[in-house]
Amino acid sequence: MAVIPVAIAGAPYDVRIETGVLRNAGHHCRPFIRKNHVAVVTDSNVAAAWRDTVTDSFAAEGITSHWLVLPAGEATKSWAYLAQVVDFLLAQEVERRDNVVALGGGVIGDLTGFAASMVKRGCGFIQLPTTLLAQVDSSVGGKTAINTPLGKNLVGAFHQPSLVLADPLALDTLPLRDTRAGYAEVIKYGLIDDAPFFAWCEENGAKVLAGDATAREIAIARSVAAKARIVAADEKETAGVRALLNLGHTFGHALEAETGYSDRLLHGEGVALGMVLAARFSVRQGLMHGQDAERIAAHIGSVGLPASLAALGLDCDGRKLADHMLHDKKMDAGTLPFLLLRGIGQTFLAKDVNLTDIAAFLDEELARS
Ligand code: GLY
Repeated sequence: MAVIPVAIAGAPYDVRIETGVLRNAGHHCRPFIRKNHVAVVTDSNVAAAWRDTVTDSFAAEGITSHWLVLPAGEATKSWAYLAQVVDFLLAQEVERRDNVVALGGGVIGDLTGFAASMVKRGCGFIQLPTTLLAQVDSSVGGKTAINTPLGKNLVGAFHQPSLVLADPLALDTLPLRDTRAGYAEVIKYGLIDDAPFFAWCEENGAKVLAGDATAREIAIARSVAAKARIVAADEKETAGVRALLNLGHTFGHALEAETGYSDRLLHGEGVALGMVLAARFSVRQGLMHGQDAERIAAHIGSVGLPASLAALGLDCDGRKLADHMLHDKKMDAGTLPFLLLRGIGQTFLAKDVNLTDIAAFLDEELARS
């Protein structure tokens, strides 16, 4: 069990990581719920697995839970469902000082958090993340958003939760592929600035994916501690610190765009391959030793995440992939900041990366055997 404080100025909160914590969700949420009822938003898959457990835990604290169960899947992160969540919260007569509950993965957390940011000009919300990706990344740090036809996460707000409860047991009811994709974000924290944690991942990554409870708690706690430190230093991504969390994401988003944001490549899989590409491009730029990049690729490949661009079988060239990056929401006055590496645990923000070099590099990677 670990409790990680997130020291955001004016909006601090705790992230509690504990195997079985969903069974006690009511107890931990009780100090944040002023009334004898609470609004909970979830999706149909999570409801099937966890609704009864969470309902009972609130009931044990004298709290009746009122549920909105939405369709599972990325398509729910839309204007239409945002309106539905807002209308539900208003119908529940949620007030500004109330906390509503988001039980689910990144879609439910982002959607409910965004709705909470606008109901009565902002009410509180509690995150109960049920995927590894949500537990180590999206439930912490206050980024909330929906997708639009022009791209993912293009409309949103910074709105910090009041509490996060992460239960590794929730991962047991998910497909391994989803947990593996979330594990890419765990590796990311090692690569950003914690080489010993990357070495821990090399030793223990297989255990995390196999369901070892201790390994899961450690992986989540160390990831959350890293994220907490980064977002406390740069909540709104204006100081060049939070941007480090985007390691692998620029390449990854281009790959997701090229594969149509489909099951062909999950977000975390795109990030995993994106980190391999960022490392290899760093080698090409003379920034990092090739053996470090190959160590990264080896670990990513060893847990079953994609480590080879050629193996994706894309029908495109490097220029087309680089062109997807022009639509990246991190574009800033015509330049695209890139996260590159000087070594494992030494990620930095490079502002002078040329997309022509990126395209040439991607052509080499597409042809690599
Ligand atoms: N997922 C990146 C961030 O929270 O900044």
